[in-house]
Amino acid sequence: MSRTPSPQKRMEELREQVQYHNARYHGHDDPEISDAEFDELARELRQLEIEHPELVDDSSPSLAVGATAITTFDPVVHRVPMTSLDNAMDETELRAWGDRVAKGLGDQAVRYVCELKIDGLAISIRYENGVLVQAATRGDGKVGEDVTANVATISSLPKHIASAPEVVEVRGEIFMSIAAFEKLKAEREAENLERIRNGRSPLPVPVNPRNAGAGSLRQKDPTITAKRDMSLWSYQLGEVVGGPEFTSHHDTLEFLRTLGFPVNPAITIVDSIEAVTQFCQEWKERRHELPYEIDGVVIKVDDLSQREQLGFTSRAPRWAIAFKFPPEEKHTLLLDIQVSVGRTGRTTPFAVLEPVFVGGSTVGMATLHNRDQVAAKDVRPGDTVVVRKAGDVIPEVVGPVLSKRPKGSQPWVFPTQCPCPVKSTLVKLDDVADTRCVEPSCPFQRDQRIMYFASRGAMDIEGLGDRTVFALSDAGLVTDVGDLYSVTVEQLLTLEGFAELSAQNLVASIQASRSRPLPKLLTALGIKNLGPAAAESLASEFGSLDAIAIASAEELSAVDGVGGVIAASITSWFAVSENAAIIQKLRNAGVEFGRVEVSTNPQTLVGKAVVVTGTLASYSRDGAEEAIKSRGGKSPGSVSAKTFAVVLGESPGASKVTKAEQLGIPVLDEAGFEILLATGELPV
Ligand code: IVH
Repeated sequence: MSRTPSPQKRMEELREQVQYHNARYHGHDDPEISDAEFDELARELRQLEIEHPELVDDSSPSLAVGATAITTFDPVVHRVPMTSLDNAMDETELRAWGDRVAKGLGDQAVRYVCELKIDGLAISIRYENGVLVQAATRGDGKVGEDVTANVATISSLPKHIASAPEVVEVRGEIFMSIAAFEKLKAEREAENLERIRNGRSPLPVPVNPRNAGAGSLRQKDPTITAKRDMSLWSYQLGEVVGGPEFTSHHDTLEFLRTLGFPVNPAITIVDSIEAVTQFCQEWKERRHELPYEIDGVVIKVDDLSQREQLGFTSRAPRWAIAFKFPPEEKHTLLLDIQVSVGRTGRTTPFAVLEPVFVGGSTVGMATLHNRDQVAAKDVRPGDTVVVRKAGDVIPEVVGPVLSKRPKGSQPWVFPTQCPCPVKSTLVKLDDVADTRCVEPSCPFQRDQRIMYFASRGAMDIEGLGDRTVFALSDAGLVTDVGDLYSVTVEQLLTLEGFAELSAQNLVASIQASRSRPLPKLLTALGIKNLGPAAAESLASEFGSLDAIAIASAEELSAVDGVGGVIAASITSWFAVSENAAIIQKLRNAGVEFGRVEVSTNPQTLVGKAVVVTGTLASYSRDGAEEAIKSRGGKSPGSVSAKTFAVVLGESPGASKVTKAEQLGIPVLDEAGFEILLATGELPV
């Protein structure tokens, strides 16, 4: 059993760890642990220091801001120190800060300036007589590094300012936009694939915009920084000599704006902590609408004389606080890389992770897409990896933490055999990214086909989940989708987890699926390349499965939305004898082959394509599509010259909006959409 260490021992341990990780983060831009884990260590240390003031030592890292700058760039002494901020991790801590401010000011009225907390790198840029003379990183807050040549490459940064004070230091955050980061990452991944092909080891891929930005700022060659497309938001003044006198923070921001510096437009002044919490809540939800990353909100007391009254603690101002959002990135262990087999035989590598709570849910698995992706990122079982789960986006393994890679680790090798019991050889053609299992009898493919048949967009068989499919398949009760309809209650009762009632329910929902409309049945067969949209068109054109089965490729490809590729894949599917046998089983079971639903809605949109983007208040995504289709219209996924109108909801896709503007396609709001549905006409 482990004993709790003495406070002194624990404080020593924590000091050592905080110092070490601080140096990795600030000094080397190569953190080993996530921000959240670091905060946890730092907070524990500060708590112990509060509880045991007699054990506080002047050199404690909790009193310092960051690591002392490493010496590859010239040191710059900050004439006005660049302090850090204290954090509030939740609303309670934020309100506690508000109470401390109120107390410190003897209950004077307080205005707060709320700003986005840009996830970048703090910078101080010095102008003398209007000329940019020096740009320095924060370093330890007292001494930073001279990165003037690199910062001067930022296009939105004025190099000269007119009617400027003798000296003015502009402070703000340098960051890389998400688009610039994605571009850099894609370039690095492509470069890595090329290197791997030539037998060279891959280079580290930047894991997030902050990390990429830090690397770019520290380039010895500024022409490289120039290519990285960095940006700046300014939010504070440092030293000012011979300038105007200010009484409020928002005046200083206005001053920065008039001098030509970029100031973030989301900045808002409020007069209560209640309104501050609303601002924080709003941006916590909206953070992904921004083209750059934020990790919280910074709240500052606006009145500069009130700031003076409040003053500083040993490490941060009392007049400001950083409200931190929950982390969307964490580090965890990559236990294994396994391969799954889809219904068409395509194999997909996926990461098996030590489960980690990130971005609002626990992540234990994440797709790695394909063989090239694994190679480009060079993630290996045993690695500590960065896992990201942002908003509704599927979780991603971003990359390895190289400093934690176990010694002797080797790159992961894609398996040569299918993981199913047949163990057939996997096939990878040179010019395609996919590796496939091409064995027709592969039981893994078969199970996936059955799951797809039963899924919501297809035959929608309630209660037939993955586990039941595996159990039915293992017991030999089902070898293809045609067998589903002869499964009995007695047979289900022999399987684990089934009782009389659940068995009866499943048999009933299987039988009920016999009357699904033709497009669903056609989709459910899982014919390669044939998606729900083409299935709809084919169903309304041919009216029955039998008519589609005997149609020629020419007849099929004449249907709107069905090209040569889909047509060929349909005819070859029906030509396979096993598939003909499935059709026969379905027919014998009484599955309806010609159920075409007739809509009762007025057919206002016949021949019109309407694209919906963003979230609507009264329709779900599927609901909006259904509303268009049931009126005879089409709802394609992208905007083209043939689009009749584009409906914009909340947070629409930028590319669709731009495309609509370029092509001069009418853009409607939700009210306009209602009019369009009812009349088929554009609102006037
Ligand atoms: S003000 C004394 N405002 O967050 C006040 N900082 O966790 C100094 N940051 O060191 C900072 N956005 O690098 C301020 N709007 C903002 C900010 C911001 C991001 C960074 C900055 C700071 C760190 C504190």
